[in-house]
Amino acid sequence: MIENRKDDHIRIASEQNVEEGNNLFNEVYLIHIALPEIDFDDVDTSMTIFGKKLSFPFIIGAMTGGTEIAEKINAILAKCAEEFGIGMYVGSQRVAIVKPETARSFRVVAENAPTALKIANLGAPQVSRLNERVLSDWVSQAIDMINADAIAIHLNPAQEVFQPEGEPWFRGVTDRLRFIKKIANRPLIIKEVGNGISMEVARTLVSRVGPDAIDVAGTGGTSFIRIESIRARAINEANIFSGWGIPTVLSICEVRNVYDGFIIASGGVRSGLDGAKAIAIGANAFSMSRPLLLSALKGYDETKKFIDNLFREFKATMFLTGSKNISELSRAPVVLGQDIISWLGQRGITCRRVGA
Ligand SMILES: Cc1cc2nc3c(=O)[nH]c(=O)nc-3n(C[C@H](O)[C@H](O)[C@H](O)COP(=O)(O)O)c2cc1C
Repeated sequence: MIENRKDDHIRIASEQNVEEGNNLFNEVYLIHIALPEIDFDDVDTSMTIFGKKLSFPFIIGAMTGGTEIAEKINAILAKCAEEFGIGMYVGSQRVAIVKPETARSFRVVAENAPTALKIANLGAPQVSRLNERVLSDWVSQAIDMINADAIAIHLNPAQEVFQPEGEPWFRGVTDRLRFIKKIANRPLIIKEVGNGISMEVARTLVSRVGPDAIDVAGTGGTSFIRIESIRARAINEANIFSGWGIPTVLSICEVRNVYDGFIIASGGVRSGLDGAKAIAIGANAFSMSRPLLLSALKGYDETKKFIDNLFREFKATMFLTGSKNISELSRAPVVLGQDIISWLGQRGITCRRVGA
């Protein structure tokens, strides 16, 4: 049953070590500015996306919905999103469309975060099989369910291929994404789930879909291949692939090389320092999933504390790089390690930053 799968994901992601690969944030160095010429209080961390102002460029990652425990998690995360003035994705809403009795687990997000940036979510393999009429209906149901400001479609071929009941159906998916962009009446975000987006995929998205944002969700954080291999209770081919994908830092550089739009960095982002590094190499905002699952399972106070720390780390990094605002952070000097330089060289790309 689809709801059991959602609870399996929560249980395995919270109880087991499911983080794999190297996101390469450890190879991005920001330069310390000993003479910042600003007061800490002068640092303006805010930014605007899709007409909504965020107190800092952070979006709670896409995780869950569809079960009782998911409802509690979503309510806690939404309350924090509202309180901090940050964004929030919900997990895939297919469960609530096929089983409307579970929709409440998503509606709590709109109830607890009436003004925060809210992002609906559906999976590419599922939408690839729907005709245009049904697809329009799914998209408007997903948006209305949480009063969403934007909709994200996740690309997850690696997860689907190793999931015991997976649906690795991607034929015709690009046309479906273009159709969603046409009818959604909301900004469209295309995201991965932890295996990254390459420059070739970004180029196809640019020429054939026209997304309003791309969330790279690269490798080096939660591995869905690992989660699915644990669910399958088998030593199977998934184990070989658990670190498969494009490290997050490299995925940001790859996408930025061909895409001028809004990039969300995710996949193993684990601190405000990582988030600031992501912005300095070309992203516009950052997102984090598993750490927020762990804190939400401990409750509202713990989650609040976690996000507050994240904010402080991010603001401290801005101060220490002498960045008065996000636009200055995006131009802060960076030094990149050898693995990054080698990858970029072989791919024939440079680290091209926002507006550069
Ligand atoms: C328990 C769990 C459930 C997830 N479910 C979804 C989902 O329904 N839709 C989606 O787009 N991504 C989903 N993701 C992927 C995350 O949005 C994110 O891309 C990935 O976990 C990498 O970020 P992280 O390393 O910060 O966890 C899920 C992640 C976790 C941990």
